[in-house]
Amino acid sequence: MARLYAAWESAVAVACCAMTGPEHRLSRGLFLVFEGIDGAGKTTQVHLLETRLQQEGYPVVCCKEPTTGPWGQKLRHLAAHGRTVEPATELEWFLQDRRDDVAQSILPALERCQIVLLDRYYFSTMAYQGALGISPQDIQARNELFAPPPDLLLLLEVPVAQSLQRVRQRGGRSHFERHAYLTQVAAIFGEMQFPYLTRIDASQAPALVHTCIWQAVVPLLAGTTHAAPRDVTI
Ligand SMILES: Nc1ncnc2c1ncn2[C@@H]1O[C@H](COP(=O)(O)OP(=O)(O)OP(=O)(O)O)[C@@H](O)[C@H]1O
Ligand SMILES: [Mg+2]
Repeated sequence: MARLYAAWESAVAVACCAMTGPEHRLSRGLFLVFEGIDGAGKTTQVHLLETRLQQEGYPVVCCKEPTTGPWGQKLRHLAAHGRTVEPATELEWFLQDRRDDVAQSILPALERCQIVLLDRYYFSTMAYQGALGISPQDIQARNELFAPPPDLLLLLEVPVAQSLQRVRQRGGRSHFERHAYLTQVAAIFGEMQFPYLTRIDASQAPALVHTCIWQAVVPLLAGTTHAAPRDVTI
């Protein structure tokens, strides 16, 4: 009877552990950013990585820009209905939206030692607003006054024609999705050089893209996890 009770008690402990949260506690937060042109597969890969990290027992938070806050909603309206403001005004809105995102979501999650997966960040602003004629370096400098750089920037690279085909298959339309414009955006992404940047061949099948991303993420996990990651396989 005592053995039966002990087994039940340990089963409850395991269940409670599973219910009360992650098995891995990080020594600091990790900030992973996904970038790439429309249809590159960012949102798909954020979800795949989120699922994998949760399965491995890591504390993970997903964010997306533009946000659903007041500035983000104005930007989403532009994306859906076409630009009705000057690029400089649009840039101000991106900066306002990002200030809110950094202060309200990103920094608090990093301070809680969580892994933040961010779907688009200021590198998109550099590329998209840069393609409209604003200096990418100026955009970077203005962002870095308040926006922390990521630990890892995953740049998903895919030919423009392939990305547009995916967008069409997805069924959505956007005034931002023009071939010539995206070619300029891709060129600015292509010139980016940062110590934390990893380029990912996103023209492959989603599972293969995820494997490349996982290979880039595992070393960061090993460097910030108190206990060795369990069953972390590449
Ligand atoms: N590696 C892939 N191969 C084929 N199709 C893909 C791949 N990754 C994503 N897709 C599909 O392509 C479409 C666009 O993917 P997704 O929404 O993840 O791209 P995105 O980069 O987030 O786009 P956006 O910039 O518009 O938000 C979706 O229908 C998705 O299912
Ligand atoms: Mg997306």
